[in-house]
Amino acid sequence: MKNAHAISPVIKWVGGKRGLLPELLARLPASLRTYHEPFLGGGALFCALRPASAHLADTNAELVTLYRVIKAQPLALMQRVRSLPCDEAGYYDVRQWDRQPGFADLPPVDRAARFLYLNKTSFNGLWRVNRHGHVNAAWGKRCSPTLFSVDNVMALHHALRTARLGQAGFADLLKVVNRGDFVYFDPPYDSSEENGFVGYTAAGFDRDDQMDLWRVCVKLHRLGVNWMLSNADTAFIRRLYRAFKIEAVAAPRRVSRDAAGRRAAAEVIVRNY
Ligand SMILES: C[S@@+](CC[C@H](N)C(=O)[O-])C[C@H]1O[C@@H](n2cnc3c(N)ncnc32)[C@H](O)[C@@H]1O
Repeated sequence: MKNAHAISPVIKWVGGKRGLLPELLARLPASLRTYHEPFLGGGALFCALRPASAHLADTNAELVTLYRVIKAQPLALMQRVRSLPCDEAGYYDVRQWDRQPGFADLPPVDRAARFLYLNKTSFNGLWRVNRHGHVNAAWGKRCSPTLFSVDNVMALHHALRTARLGQAGFADLLKVVNRGDFVYFDPPYDSSEENGFVGYTAAGFDRDDQMDLWRVCVKLHRLGVNWMLSNADTAFIRRLYRAFKIEAVAAPRRVSRDAAGRRAAAEVIVRNY
């Protein structure tokens, strides 16, 4: 596995794992064939690893479009982002594109540029959608001095060249995974005891989803696939994964709705190896 030139995630993402990276890196398996990250988000671990073979997925269509465009048209993307107006009126104008008919038919470069722009100019870098799937995050009252780093976008472009990208739910992983592969699961955190954030997509993520994910983990274990999972340290998660190795870690949450929420959170890392 190549790890020479680490990349930073190009987006700020609730639950982004940069703060937890040392703990995750210390627990990787000795070897792996293909790396899978089915809850991609900002992809902090993928960026740190730059695996030669990867399968990346998320249910958030705009997020996956951004990665596809960085893979295929990074220069056009950066040019389009630079063309967007960076002030409050401009922010709300770009934000409402997804309320217009025909949004889904816009060129991928436009949708990806909008996503990156909103991510960097919204309040706290929060990407949040309502039940119709429309972005409702407020203007962050400033334009970041840099919406992106050219070097970083290009480095991610190179890292993605051999990666396969999918807009899919986590269970689709079972169609593409093979013995000897490694999966890192970073789902929306179990929220009932933590007041966690699940608004990445209109569908949310509840305890039935957590139990479906556990079933996928059990199947992978039987298939001989190593996996590692991060989640909130709640009694529910500890009970669910009690047959596997559970370790508590403290990690700073990087994006939160309010300043009081920016404290170290109790998390667990679960592994089947
Ligand atoms: C905690 S975030 C992942 C953060 C990521 N590890 C990082 O470093 O930024 C969880 C991700 O899961 C995605 N997601 C939510 N429900 C999903 C599902 N059913 N299947 C796959 N992805 C889902 C969200 O869109 C979000 O990007």
